[in-house]
Amino acid sequence: MSRKRSLSGIKPTGMPHLGNYLGMIQPAVDLQEDHDAFYFVADLHSLTSTSGPAQVREHTYDVTAIFLAFGLDPTRAVFWRQSDVPEVCELAWVLSCLTPMGLLERAHGWKAAKDRGNSGAENHGLFAYPVLMAADILLYDSDVVPVGKDQVQHVEMTRDMADKFNRVFEPTFKLPAARVKKDVGTIIGTDGRKMSKSYNNTIPVFLPPKQLRKAVMKIETDSKGLEDIKDPDTCNVMTLYRLFAGPDEIASMEAAYRAGGYGYGHAKQALFEAMDASLGPHRERYNALRADESMLEDILQEGGRRARAVAIPIMDTVRERTGIGAPRRAR
Ligand code: TRP
Repeated sequence: MSRKRSLSGIKPTGMPHLGNYLGMIQPAVDLQEDHDAFYFVADLHSLTSTSGPAQVREHTYDVTAIFLAFGLDPTRAVFWRQSDVPEVCELAWVLSCLTPMGLLERAHGWKAAKDRGNSGAENHGLFAYPVLMAADILLYDSDVVPVGKDQVQHVEMTRDMADKFNRVFEPTFKLPAARVKKDVGTIIGTDGRKMSKSYNNTIPVFLPPKQLRKAVMKIETDSKGLEDIKDPDTCNVMTLYRLFAGPDEIASMEAAYRAGGYGYGHAKQALFEAMDASLGPHRERYNALRADESMLEDILQEGGRRARAVAIPIMDTVRERTGIGAPRRAR
């Protein structure tokens, strides 16, 4: 039996944070073991907010080096730049024509942009974002989509669009399933809310040790003093510690919280050390990989060729079934 295909994308919008890493990057890399792994840098999606051409390119390399640093094997997995397969925009248009406005008006990303008011953020690209994302997924016949919780709605919309296409034309697309890492759940940021760039509470995945320590020291806690008994179940430091420390270390920090005489400063230092021990070796690899842009570009180009080889026949079928383009017999 052939392997199932896992597919996911990540926007090149700056250094990914711990939420991106634990929720998407690591699970996606793990899936390459027993899946046909297809991952890409969503540069087209990143244009919904402008950061400038130099940033888009830089961040594309950042993200590529990060995947490699965490173990993505480009000889097995296909890793490419979204815009190098232009068929995705063509499929997005076809799907657009099948997608009710009302469905898109319910998208969390769109609603949040509208709530922020007249900031210029509510452009058509943002409104149509879920359609392009559906095209990303359907163009490669994907089975599973490893994503953070916040992207589940988009994968559900993708299923709606695939199903609509299958009913209006002919059965063509598989209905993909989101895969959310359960034991990770929502990663909290330094203020205890969901870790998100829009809340300004993120911890970037690779920071030099000094800056990482500084970021950890900023994590908000309650105002209990050193001697006080503390609650390990409501503490932001403890929540992050559980993601980086081993079971014995976790148990002993929990005990120290309940015993008193253990301050948040101690806990933060332990958290910093656990994070640094876990991320440090990857950071070193990242720095070495990131320094070689022509190697990174080669990987993206090769991935683009392999991705396109999958996309072209699928788009051809879509043309045939919708009636656009020259009929096969005329070519
Ligand atoms: N929207 C995703 C995010 O912001 C990125 C993305 C674009 C994506 N296309 C995708 C993820 C297709 C999964 C599948 O994180």
